[in-house]
Amino acid sequence: MKLNIENRRYIGNKSKLLKFINDTINQEKIEFNTFGDVFSGTGVVAEYFLNKGKNIYVNDILYSNYVIYKAILSNENYDEEKIKSIINEYNKVISADLKDNYFSDNFSGNYYHYNDAKKIGFVREDIEIKYNKKEINKREYYILISCLLYSMDRISNTVGHYESFLNKEPEYKNLQISFINLKKYNGKSYIFNEDANRLVRKINVDVMYIDPPYNARQYANFYHLLENVAHWEKPPVFNKAKKMERKNIMSEYCKANAKAVFADLIENINAKYIIVSYNNTYEAKSSSSVNSITYQDMMQILEKKGNVRVYETDYKFFNSGKTNLDKHKERLFVCEVEV
Ligand SMILES: C[S@@+](CC[C@H](N)C(=O)[O-])C[C@H]1O[C@@H](n2cnc3c(N)ncnc32)[C@H](O)[C@@H]1O
Repeated sequence: MKLNIENRRYIGNKSKLLKFINDTINQEKIEFNTFGDVFSGTGVVAEYFLNKGKNIYVNDILYSNYVIYKAILSNENYDEEKIKSIINEYNKVISADLKDNYFSDNFSGNYYHYNDAKKIGFVREDIEIKYNKKEINKREYYILISCLLYSMDRISNTVGHYESFLNKEPEYKNLQISFINLKKYNGKSYIFNEDANRLVRKINVDVMYIDPPYNARQYANFYHLLENVAHWEKPPVFNKAKKMERKNIMSEYCKANAKAVFADLIENINAKYIIVSYNNTYEAKSSSSVNSITYQDMMQILEKKGNVRVYETDYKFFNSGKTNLDKHKERLFVCEVEV
């Protein structure tokens, strides 16, 4: 099975809103060559515009997302046949014959079956060895890790993120690694892995798209396991959910000072237009899902930067079951920056 950039489970991903974003840009008659997406998550929004020949600036605080952008969106060379033959070899490995490793020691019997966990650890270690021996270049390294991340994510014993695992024994899924569909793009991509507030001070784009978290739920908690595999530094993991130390990837946008951090971001953006994704989950009943920035806050902050218009669409979204979905709206704030 071939995978595309959008074929992963990622909370808040905007795969289903690409048309809404594009229609809004068209309605606003915005002409642009450079597009910034500094809370890029899956990278689907940036990819959509890269595919249209735009130059993109793509960024996320999570390294596992950065690895995926470097694999799918970068302009560097790679040998497709070589990667496919490596994946073929991985898929022939009999997992029951493998030795225990870091991954099976920590993640079997919870997120994965013992044999699948051994295979994940074996494959990830082998990618590192191949890279250190210079058998693969850096792009190929990122591609192989991404193929593993996408493939392992599909068989995890979870609801789609790693905040916790399901309350049942993981089944043996016989992990197969799939190749990610790689395209040739006409646009250029500039790829980053840093705090968005720092990055916006250094770049200048025509359109800056902003899609931060708006509640207390940290992406570092949702995706710690993918982060762990991407880095492969084999850190100790703690407690039932087996999370590693994550201080440096905790987002300020999920803490009490989110509003001030957001205001600082907007103030320091260098762009002709700022487009902000926003939804009305501030009406949510679960306190960790309550929106940290209200509609009025958003208006106030953006109006300091230019003229603001708001677009709206109905949308289904992730929730933990406590929230009434009926009135859910997904909004785009378009701010035409005044110079
Ligand atoms: C709502 S998601 C973005 C979803 C994305 N638009 C998509 O379609 O997949 C928010 C993202 O912001 C990232 N993030 C949180 N705080 C950040 C920060 N300070 N700087 C950069 N990225 C951050 C999270 O890791 C997460 O991937």
